[in-house]
Amino acid sequence: MGACLSSQIKAESPLHLGLNFHTNGKEGNGESSVSQSARTEEEILRSSNLKSFMFNDLKTATRNFRPDSVLGEGGFGCVFKGWIDEQTYTAAKPGTGLVIAVKRLNQDGLQGHKEWLTEIAYLGQLYHPHLVKLIGFCLEDEHRLLVYEFMPRGSLENHLFRRSSYYQPLSWLLRLKVMVGAAKGLAFLHSNKAKVIYRDFKTSNVLLDSKFEAKLSDFGLAKDGPSGGKSHVSTRVMGTYGYAAPEYLATGHLTTKSDVYSFGVVLLEMLSGRRVIDKNRPAGEQNLIEWGKPYLTSKRKIFHVMDSRIQGQYSLAGALKAAYLALKCLSTEPKSRPNMNEVVKALELLREHEETATEEAQLSARQNPGNTTGPKYRRRSANDISDSRMPISFRGPFASPSQT
Ligand SMILES: Nc1ncnc2c1ncn2[C@@H]1O[C@H](COP(=O)(O)OP(=O)(O)OP(=O)(O)O)[C@@H](O)[C@H]1O
Ligand SMILES: [Mg+2]
Repeated sequence: MGACLSSQIKAESPLHLGLNFHTNGKEGNGESSVSQSARTEEEILRSSNLKSFMFNDLKTATRNFRPDSVLGEGGFGCVFKGWIDEQTYTAAKPGTGLVIAVKRLNQDGLQGHKEWLTEIAYLGQLYHPHLVKLIGFCLEDEHRLLVYEFMPRGSLENHLFRRSSYYQPLSWLLRLKVMVGAAKGLAFLHSNKAKVIYRDFKTSNVLLDSKFEAKLSDFGLAKDGPSGGKSHVSTRVMGTYGYAAPEYLATGHLTTKSDVYSFGVVLLEMLSGRRVIDKNRPAGEQNLIEWGKPYLTSKRKIFHVMDSRIQGQYSLAGALKAAYLALKCLSTEPKSRPNMNEVVKALELLREHEETATEEAQLSARQNPGNTTGPKYRRRSANDISDSRMPISFRGPFASPSQT
């Protein structure tokens, strides 16, 4: 746990610059069921179904924002663990009542306030099993806070990239479960019910509950999707380096396919256990996408990309399917990317396939406990690529050319 003393904005989020709110209430597309751009600050705060907290209550709930209550820190500020009474929502004794995560804005200036308000605007209206629940907010003098349900397993980022005894490497099946959940969250945002572009899909914004169900958090950069027959929304470029789609960076034109690109980046991070940008790696390996792409379609080379910590847990067919899906999401041409409903379907099929494969491997191991030379379903290493069960193609639009 960090002491959370710094107020610096993380180097990876320097693009957080603007927002789509208008305080005059004149703009807006009037179509989206959660259209935010036409609402004033007062309307947003009034219409949200959220609890308005007193600062002192949150101070007590987090034990005075104690450094050892810090759950993490992002560009917005620190996130603290706290406890409130389930009925009254007043501060409760630590370890009793409802566990909450309190995000405290530590930036000065308008941008932090705008992101705080955007979060309330969207999460005050959107409900889905794969979106984190915002319980309330605090607006008092200079204080800006957000109160969320506590997500006991923290962020996907910590599970993938933190090396500590607390974070055991996520298994292959859990990684697939997390990606299915996150994909469902994005698919919901893109649906006609919500019509929202998330714009900040990355591992630190995917939070995990006790059963590793994924929930998207951080709507500070979210935008209403295009309306009136338009193909895109024009914006100032914001987001996180490495995750933003190339055409969005180049033109500022935002579409749901920008989120799909970011999803592809995270999928590749999940397969490889590598960060999209990692300056600590040798030259030539620092950009995961540039480095990884040539390996992704090859039965022989895919193992170079796969995280060694999940070696032996996946089938070659499964790894290739996941890699192929990531490549489709990362297509330079947005139209070639799948939509999120297609991504959900492809991942669900893959998960089913890998679960069955794991069960079969376990059954076979139980039936032949001493047999270490017989045929195996699982691929063990790059040197072992003769899988008689290959290929199993996706139904639908993701049948890999190498597998059909
Ligand atoms: N509801 C929550 N429950 C448990 N932990 C949380 C919760 N919300 C955030 N955290 C933890 O706090 C960390 C910081 O979150 P925050 O959203 O402020 O920043 P970030 O996503 O890491 O970075 P950035 O500001 O660049 O988006 C998260 O990575 C996560 O570990
Ligand atoms: Mg976040």
